[in-house]
Amino acid sequence: MSIFKRILTGHRPTGPRHIGHLYGTLINWTAMQHTYECFFLVADLHVLTTDFNHPQHIRNNTLEMVTDWLAAGIDPQRAALILQSTIPEHVQLSMLFSMLVTVARLERVPTYKDQTSELNLNPSLGLLTYPVLQAADILLYKAETVPVGEDQLPHLELTREIARRFNQLYGETFPEPEALLSNTPRIPGIDNRTMHTSRGNAIFLKDSPEETTRKVKQMYTDPTRLRASDPGHVEGNPVFDYLDIFETDTFVLNEMKDLYRAGKIGDVAVKAHLALVMNETLAPLRERRRQFASHPEQIIDILNAGTERARPVAKETLQEVMNKMGLSTLKVL
Ligand code: TRP
Repeated sequence: MSIFKRILTGHRPTGPRHIGHLYGTLINWTAMQHTYECFFLVADLHVLTTDFNHPQHIRNNTLEMVTDWLAAGIDPQRAALILQSTIPEHVQLSMLFSMLVTVARLERVPTYKDQTSELNLNPSLGLLTYPVLQAADILLYKAETVPVGEDQLPHLELTREIARRFNQLYGETFPEPEALLSNTPRIPGIDNRTMHTSRGNAIFLKDSPEETTRKVKQMYTDPTRLRASDPGHVEGNPVFDYLDIFETDTFVLNEMKDLYRAGKIGDVAVKAHLALVMNETLAPLRERRRQFASHPEQIIDILNAGTERARPVAKETLQEVMNKMGLSTLKVL
Protein backbone atom coordinates (compact mmCIF):
# COMPACT_ATOMS: atom_id res chain seq x y z
CA MET A 1 0.00 0.00 0.00
CA SER A 2 1.20 3.41 -0.89
CA ILE A 3 0.75 6.39 1.40
CA PHE A 4 0.18 8.54 -1.67
CA LYS A 5 -3.18 9.14 -3.26
CA ARG A 6 -3.57 7.25 -6.49
CA ILE A 7 -4.06 8.91 -9.85
CA LEU A 8 -4.96 7.30 -13.12
CA THR A 9 -4.90 9.05 -16.44
CA GLY A 10 -4.07 8.18 -20.00
CA HIS A 11 -4.02 8.89 -23.69
CA ARG A 12 -5.27 7.02 -26.69
CA PRO A 13 -2.26 5.88 -28.77
CA THR A 14 -3.08 7.94 -31.84
CA GLY A 15 0.54 8.65 -32.81
CA PRO A 16 3.57 10.63 -31.70
CA ARG A 17 3.06 13.38 -29.11
CA HIS A 18 3.34 17.06 -29.99
CA ILE A 19 4.26 20.09 -27.90
CA GLY A 20 0.57 20.61 -27.09
CA HIS A 21 0.59 17.23 -25.31
CA LEU A 22 3.90 18.08 -23.67
CA TYR A 23 2.73 21.33 -22.10
CA GLY A 24 -0.94 20.34 -21.75
CA THR A 25 -0.38 17.04 -19.94
CA LEU A 26 3.03 15.38 -19.91
CA ILE A 27 4.88 18.01 -17.88
CA ASN A 28 2.10 17.86 -15.28
CA TRP A 29 2.25 14.08 -15.16
CA THR A 30 5.98 14.08 -14.58
CA ALA A 31 5.57 16.52 -11.68
CA MET A 32 2.83 14.37 -10.14
CA GLN A 33 5.08 11.32 -10.04
CA HIS A 34 6.62 12.74 -6.88
CA THR A 35 3.39 13.32 -4.97
CA TYR A 36 1.01 10.60 -6.19
CA GLU A 37 1.02 6.91 -6.92
CA CYS A 38 0.69 7.12 -10.70
CA PHE A 39 -0.96 4.84 -13.24
CA PHE A 40 -0.58 6.01 -16.82
CA LEU A 41 -2.81 4.20 -19.26
CA VAL A 42 -2.27 3.51 -22.95
CA ALA A 43 -5.94 3.35 -23.95
CA ASP A 44 -5.61 1.21 -27.06
CA LEU A 45 -9.12 -0.25 -26.81
CA HIS A 46 -10.51 3.27 -26.96
CA VAL A 47 -8.78 3.79 -30.32
CA LEU A 48 -10.97 1.07 -31.81
CA THR A 49 -14.15 3.02 -31.01
CA THR A 50 -13.52 5.12 -34.10
CA ASP A 51 -10.47 3.69 -35.84
CA PHE A 52 -11.05 -0.05 -36.01
CA ASN A 53 -10.00 -0.48 -39.62
CA HIS A 54 -6.29 0.30 -39.31
CA PRO A 55 -5.04 -2.52 -37.06
CA GLN A 56 -1.49 -2.08 -38.34
CA HIS A 57 -1.30 1.46 -36.87
CA ILE A 58 -1.97 0.66 -33.22
CA ARG A 59 1.27 -1.09 -32.33
CA ASN A 60 3.46 1.53 -33.93
CA ASN A 61 1.46 4.40 -32.48
CA THR A 62 1.72 2.80 -29.05
CA LEU A 63 5.51 2.56 -29.31
CA GLU A 64 5.78 6.15 -30.58
CA MET A 65 3.54 7.49 -27.84
CA VAL A 66 5.22 5.66 -24.98
CA THR A 67 8.65 6.68 -26.30
CA ASP A 68 7.50 10.29 -26.12
CA TRP A 69 6.11 9.81 -22.61
CA LEU A 70 9.48 8.51 -21.46
CA ALA A 71 11.33 11.27 -23.31
CA ALA A 72 9.14 13.81 -21.50
CA GLY A 73 10.27 12.37 -18.17
CA ILE A 74 7.69 9.74 -17.24
CA ASP A 75 9.68 7.44 -14.97
CA PRO A 76 8.73 3.76 -15.11
CA GLN A 77 10.39 3.25 -11.72
CA ARG A 78 7.83 5.56 -10.17
CA ALA A 79 4.76 5.19 -12.38
CA ALA A 80 3.05 2.10 -13.75
CA LEU A 81 2.56 2.36 -17.50
CA ILE A 82 -0.30 0.11 -18.48
CA LEU A 83 -1.44 -1.17 -21.82
CA GLN A 84 -5.22 -1.39 -21.47
CA SER A 85 -5.84 -4.35 -23.75
CA THR A 86 -3.43 -6.60 -21.84
CA ILE A 87 -5.58 -6.38 -18.71
CA PRO A 88 -8.92 -8.05 -19.51
CA GLU A 89 -10.46 -6.71 -16.30
CA HIS A 90 -10.95 -3.32 -18.03
CA VAL A 91 -13.41 -4.87 -20.46
CA GLN A 92 -15.00 -7.06 -17.82
CA LEU A 93 -15.64 -4.18 -15.43
CA SER A 94 -16.92 -2.07 -18.29
CA MET A 95 -19.50 -4.76 -19.11
CA LEU A 96 -20.65 -4.92 -15.49
CA PHE A 97 -20.92 -1.11 -15.29
CA SER A 98 -22.93 -1.03 -18.51
CA MET A 99 -25.80 -2.58 -16.53
CA LEU A 100 -25.97 0.55 -14.37
CA VAL A 101 -26.09 3.17 -17.13
CA THR A 102 -29.00 3.92 -19.43
CA VAL A 103 -28.62 4.31 -23.18
CA ALA A 104 -30.33 7.71 -22.93
CA ARG A 105 -27.67 8.90 -20.46
CA LEU A 106 -24.86 7.89 -22.83
CA GLU A 107 -26.57 9.53 -25.79
CA ARG A 108 -26.43 12.82 -23.89
CA VAL A 109 -22.63 12.72 -23.43
CA PRO A 110 -21.34 15.79 -25.34
CA THR A 111 -18.27 14.09 -26.82
CA TYR A 112 -20.55 11.42 -28.29
CA LYS A 113 -22.99 13.97 -29.67
CA ASP A 114 -20.16 16.00 -31.22
CA GLN A 115 -18.43 13.04 -32.76
CA THR A 116 -21.53 11.52 -34.28
CA SER A 117 -22.68 14.79 -35.83
CA GLU A 118 -19.20 15.98 -36.83
CA LEU A 119 -18.04 12.76 -38.45
CA ASN A 120 -21.46 12.11 -39.87
CA LEU A 121 -20.85 8.64 -38.61
CA ASN A 122 -23.19 5.82 -37.81
CA PRO A 123 -22.05 5.23 -34.24
CA SER A 124 -21.11 1.78 -33.03
CA LEU A 125 -22.14 0.37 -29.69
CA GLY A 126 -18.46 0.66 -28.73
CA LEU A 127 -18.45 4.41 -29.35
CA LEU A 128 -21.60 4.85 -27.25
CA THR A 129 -20.02 2.97 -24.35
CA TYR A 130 -16.64 4.75 -24.67
CA PRO A 131 -17.13 6.61 -21.36
CA VAL A 132 -18.24 3.45 -19.56
CA LEU A 133 -14.92 1.84 -20.49
CA GLN A 134 -13.18 4.99 -19.29
CA ALA A 135 -15.04 4.76 -15.96
CA ALA A 136 -13.84 1.16 -15.69
CA ASP A 137 -10.23 2.29 -16.39
CA ILE A 138 -10.41 4.69 -13.47
CA LEU A 139 -12.47 2.73 -10.93
CA LEU A 140 -10.66 -0.56 -11.51
CA TYR A 141 -7.75 1.01 -9.64
CA LYS A 142 -9.97 3.01 -7.26
CA ALA A 143 -8.12 6.12 -8.38
CA GLU A 144 -9.07 9.22 -6.41
CA THR A 145 -7.70 11.82 -8.78
CA VAL A 146 -7.79 12.00 -12.56
CA PRO A 147 -5.67 14.68 -14.27
CA VAL A 148 -7.40 15.49 -17.54
CA GLY A 149 -8.16 18.27 -19.97
CA GLU A 150 -11.47 20.06 -19.91
CA ASP A 151 -12.82 18.01 -22.81
CA GLN A 152 -12.79 14.94 -20.55
CA LEU A 153 -14.96 16.42 -17.77
CA PRO A 154 -18.19 14.85 -19.05
CA HIS A 155 -16.52 11.43 -18.85
CA LEU A 156 -15.38 12.13 -15.31
CA GLU A 157 -18.91 13.15 -14.37
CA LEU A 158 -20.23 9.84 -15.67
CA THR A 159 -17.50 7.99 -13.78
CA ARG A 160 -18.59 9.68 -10.57
CA GLU A 161 -22.22 8.79 -11.24
CA ILE A 162 -21.31 5.15 -11.78
CA ALA A 163 -19.27 5.10 -8.56
CA ARG A 164 -22.15 6.64 -6.60
CA ARG A 165 -24.73 4.31 -8.09
CA PHE A 166 -22.61 1.24 -7.45
CA ASN A 167 -21.96 2.28 -3.85
CA GLN A 168 -25.68 2.90 -3.27
CA LEU A 169 -26.72 -0.43 -4.69
CA TYR A 170 -23.99 -2.71 -3.37
CA GLY A 171 -22.29 -0.89 -0.49
CA GLU A 172 -19.31 1.44 -0.26
CA THR A 173 -16.77 0.27 -2.84
CA PHE A 174 -15.42 3.10 -4.97
CA PRO A 175 -14.11 6.59 -4.23
CA GLU A 176 -15.74 9.32 -6.32
CA PRO A 177 -12.74 10.40 -8.38
CA GLU A 178 -11.97 14.09 -8.76
CA ALA A 179 -10.82 15.68 -12.00
CA LEU A 180 -7.61 17.66 -11.77
CA LEU A 181 -7.49 20.30 -14.49
CA SER A 182 -4.11 21.64 -15.50
CA ASN A 183 -3.77 25.39 -15.80
CA THR A 184 -1.34 25.47 -18.70
CA PRO A 185 -2.40 27.63 -21.63
CA ARG A 186 -3.46 25.87 -24.79
CA ILE A 187 -0.74 25.89 -27.46
CA PRO A 188 -2.15 26.65 -30.92
CA GLY A 189 -0.91 24.88 -34.03
CA ILE A 190 1.49 26.67 -36.36
CA ASP A 191 -1.58 27.79 -38.40
CA ASN A 192 -3.21 29.22 -35.23
CA ARG A 193 -5.94 26.54 -35.22
CA THR A 194 -6.11 23.86 -32.53
CA MET A 195 -2.98 21.72 -32.70
CA HIS A 196 -3.87 18.31 -34.02
CA THR A 197 -1.73 15.27 -34.88
CA SER A 198 -3.29 14.83 -38.30
CA ARG A 199 -3.75 18.46 -39.38
CA GLY A 200 -0.17 19.11 -40.45
CA ASN A 201 0.01 21.96 -37.92
CA ALA A 202 1.79 20.23 -35.04
CA ILE A 203 5.37 20.35 -33.83
CA PHE A 204 6.24 16.87 -32.62
CA LEU A 205 8.66 15.88 -29.88
CA LYS A 206 10.35 13.66 -32.45
CA ASP A 207 10.91 16.51 -34.91
CA SER A 208 14.58 17.36 -35.45
CA PRO A 209 15.87 20.86 -34.66
CA GLU A 210 15.92 21.61 -38.42
CA GLU A 211 12.34 20.39 -38.83
CA THR A 212 11.28 22.54 -35.86
CA THR A 213 12.99 25.61 -37.30
CA ARG A 214 11.33 25.00 -40.66
CA LYS A 215 7.90 24.79 -39.03
CA VAL A 216 8.49 27.90 -36.94
CA LYS A 217 9.41 29.80 -40.11
CA GLN A 218 6.05 28.83 -41.64
CA MET A 219 4.10 29.99 -38.62
CA TYR A 220 1.09 32.21 -38.90
CA THR A 221 1.74 35.63 -37.38
CA ASP A 222 -0.03 38.96 -37.34
CA PRO A 223 -1.88 39.14 -40.69
CA THR A 224 -2.39 42.92 -40.40
CA ARG A 225 1.33 43.54 -40.52
CA LEU A 226 2.72 43.98 -44.03
CA ARG A 227 6.18 45.40 -43.26
CA ALA A 228 8.53 44.88 -40.33
CA SER A 229 8.16 48.59 -39.59
CA ASP A 230 4.35 48.29 -39.11
CA PRO A 231 3.25 48.07 -35.47
CA GLY A 232 2.53 44.41 -34.71
CA HIS A 233 -0.02 42.57 -32.56
CA VAL A 234 1.23 40.26 -29.87
CA GLU A 235 -2.14 39.02 -28.62
CA GLY A 236 -3.63 36.21 -30.70
CA ASN A 237 -0.27 35.79 -32.44
CA PRO A 238 0.86 32.18 -32.04
CA VAL A 239 4.55 33.12 -32.32
CA PHE A 240 4.16 35.05 -29.08
CA ASP A 241 1.97 32.34 -27.52
CA TYR A 242 4.94 30.02 -28.07
CA LEU A 243 7.46 32.57 -26.80
CA ASP A 244 5.38 32.96 -23.61
CA ILE A 245 6.08 29.30 -22.99
CA PHE A 246 9.60 28.83 -24.32
CA GLU A 247 11.30 32.16 -23.51
CA THR A 248 11.67 31.90 -19.76
CA ASP A 249 13.70 35.11 -19.47
CA THR A 250 10.87 37.61 -18.92
CA PHE A 251 13.15 40.56 -19.62
CA VAL A 252 13.95 39.28 -23.12
CA LEU A 253 10.31 38.30 -23.65
CA ASN A 254 8.94 41.73 -22.75
CA GLU A 255 11.63 43.47 -24.75
CA MET A 256 10.64 41.49 -27.87
CA LYS A 257 6.97 42.26 -27.36
CA ASP A 258 7.70 45.96 -27.01
CA LEU A 259 9.85 45.99 -30.13
CA TYR A 260 7.21 44.08 -32.07
CA ARG A 261 4.42 46.41 -31.01
CA ALA A 262 6.56 49.39 -31.97
CA GLY A 263 7.38 47.97 -35.40
CA LYS A 264 11.07 47.72 -34.57
CA ILE A 265 11.61 44.01 -35.09
CA GLY A 266 10.55 41.81 -37.99
CA ASP A 267 8.75 38.47 -37.94
CA VAL A 268 11.81 36.75 -39.36
CA ALA A 269 13.96 37.81 -36.41
CA VAL A 270 11.32 36.90 -33.81
CA LYS A 271 10.83 33.49 -35.38
CA ALA A 272 14.58 32.88 -35.50
CA HIS A 273 14.73 33.61 -31.79
CA LEU A 274 11.75 31.37 -31.09
CA ALA A 275 13.30 28.46 -33.02
CA LEU A 276 16.49 28.92 -31.04
CA VAL A 277 14.88 28.81 -27.59
CA MET A 278 12.56 25.97 -28.58
CA ASN A 279 15.43 23.83 -29.78
CA GLU A 280 17.39 24.64 -26.64
CA THR A 281 14.47 23.68 -24.38
CA LEU A 282 13.71 20.48 -26.26
CA ALA A 283 17.32 19.28 -26.56
CA PRO A 284 17.48 17.12 -23.38
CA LEU A 285 14.11 15.59 -24.19
CA ARG A 286 15.27 14.73 -27.71
CA GLU A 287 18.39 13.12 -26.36
CA ARG A 288 16.33 10.87 -24.06
CA ARG A 289 13.99 10.13 -26.93
CA ARG A 290 16.85 9.07 -29.16
CA GLN A 291 18.04 6.60 -26.52
CA PHE A 292 14.61 5.02 -26.03
CA ALA A 293 13.83 4.97 -29.74
CA SER A 294 16.94 2.92 -30.46
CA HIS A 295 15.76 0.25 -27.98
CA PRO A 296 12.10 -0.53 -28.70
CA GLU A 297 12.44 -3.75 -26.71
CA GLN A 298 12.91 -1.59 -23.63
CA ILE A 299 9.47 -0.07 -24.22
CA ILE A 300 7.89 -3.52 -24.32
CA ASP A 301 9.64 -4.42 -21.05
CA ILE A 302 8.39 -1.24 -19.41
CA LEU A 303 4.80 -1.94 -20.50
CA ASN A 304 5.06 -5.52 -19.28
CA ALA A 305 6.36 -4.36 -15.91
CA GLY A 306 3.51 -1.85 -15.61
CA THR A 307 0.94 -4.49 -16.46
CA GLU A 308 2.43 -6.82 -13.87
CA ARG A 309 2.06 -4.15 -11.22
CA ALA A 310 -1.47 -3.19 -12.19
CA ARG A 311 -2.99 -6.61 -12.83
CA PRO A 312 -3.25 -7.77 -9.19
CA VAL A 313 -5.08 -4.54 -8.28
CA ALA A 314 -7.41 -5.01 -11.24
CA LYS A 315 -8.13 -8.64 -10.35
CA GLU A 316 -8.95 -7.80 -6.78
CA THR A 317 -11.40 -5.04 -7.71
CA LEU A 318 -13.10 -7.17 -10.33
CA GLN A 319 -13.55 -10.04 -7.89
CA GLU A 320 -15.03 -7.67 -5.32
CA VAL A 321 -17.43 -6.20 -7.89
CA MET A 322 -18.53 -9.61 -9.17
CA ASN A 323 -19.22 -10.83 -5.67
CA LYS A 324 -21.17 -7.72 -4.74
CA MET A 325 -23.24 -7.99 -7.91
CA GLY A 326 -24.09 -11.59 -7.09
CA LEU A 327 -21.79 -13.35 -9.54
CA SER A 328 -19.10 -15.94 -9.16
CA THR A 329 -20.42 -17.43 -5.95
CA LEU A 330 -20.00 -21.03 -7.17
CA LYS A 331 -16.97 -21.67 -5.06
CA VAL A 332 -18.93 -21.08 -1.84
CA LEU A 333 -22.00 -23.15 -2.81
N1 TRP B 1 -10.54 9.50 -23.20
C1 TRP B 1 -9.19 9.92 -22.89
C2 TRP B 1 -8.70 10.84 -24.01
O1 TRP B 1 -9.13 10.75 -25.13
C3 TRP B 1 -8.25 8.76 -22.77
C4 TRP B 1 -8.57 7.89 -21.59
C5 TRP B 1 -8.99 6.60 -21.62
C6 TRP B 1 -8.48 8.27 -20.22
N2 TRP B 1 -9.17 6.11 -20.36
C7 TRP B 1 -8.88 7.11 -19.48
C8 TRP B 1 -8.13 9.45 -19.55
C9 TRP B 1 -8.93 7.15 -18.09
C10 TRP B 1 -8.19 9.47 -18.16
C11 TRP B 1 -8.59 8.32 -17.43
O2 TRP B 1 -7.82 11.65 -23.76
